Amino acid sequence: MERLDKILANLGYGSRKEVKALCRKGEVVVDGTPVKDSAEKVDPVNSTIEVKGEKINYRKFIYLMMNKPDGVVSATFDNYDETVIDLLDPEYQVFEPFPIGRLDKDTVGLLLITNDGELNHKLIAPKNHVDKVYYAEINKPVEESDIEKFKKGITLDDGYLCMPAKLEVINSDENGSSVHVTIQEGKFHQVKRMFEAVDKSVVYLRRISFGPLKLDETIEEGNFRELTEEEIELLKNV
Ligand code: URA
Repeated sequence: MERLDKILANLGYGSRKEVKALCRKGEVVVDGTPVKDSAEKVDPVNSTIEVKGEKINYRKFIYLMMNKPDGVVSATFDNYDETVIDLLDPEYQVFEPFPIGRLDKDTVGLLLITNDGELNHKLIAPKNHVDKVYYAEINKPVEESDIEKFKKGITLDDGYLCMPAKLEVINSDENGSSVHVTIQEGKFHQVKRMFEAVDKSVVYLRRISFGPLKLDETIEEGNFRELTEEEIELLKNV
């Protein structure tokens, strides 16, 4: 049971004071009966709450899939740059969501956003071996020896030994290559630094899957959608 003003304020229906005024006017109806006292405690999960005739969609957690665009940072706040959270509508921002892991400012593609700290923790812990797949364009031809090195574990510039990674070549010629890279960690600039370690540069990077979820290609860059119940279950069972 939770106070009605807390539930509605958290969902973005205004400050507690504004919710109080709504209740006084009889515009908040719980299970068919107007509730005049906003301090009243109700069960947000099992009761039907209507505000101005519209049923509210109560939930504690939100789960979003964004197709991150170029030029936006994966943070909740930044002094200079636009963040992925700035791209959300206020009705989602009130949940105080954050990105699960980070993509670089110039990396595009699948970014999960939630306010579920427990799920976040589970998905970013390297011990859980959650596969992240990237499509990358490389400035040079990628060779068989690179595939072997990725498989054995690349040592980064700071001496860190990466977990084994899968490198698959889609196309490769003297002008460069396109590849899929699968990693289970999320070190700072990891894919770019792995290629630097074999004397190559990533010129384009897009995450195309995260654990059991693939990037929904119908989401345009800069847009997002809520995950379905099935997708949330898949993530929780990782
Ligand atoms: N690896 C990188 O180098 N950058 C990203 O954004 C993600 C993985």
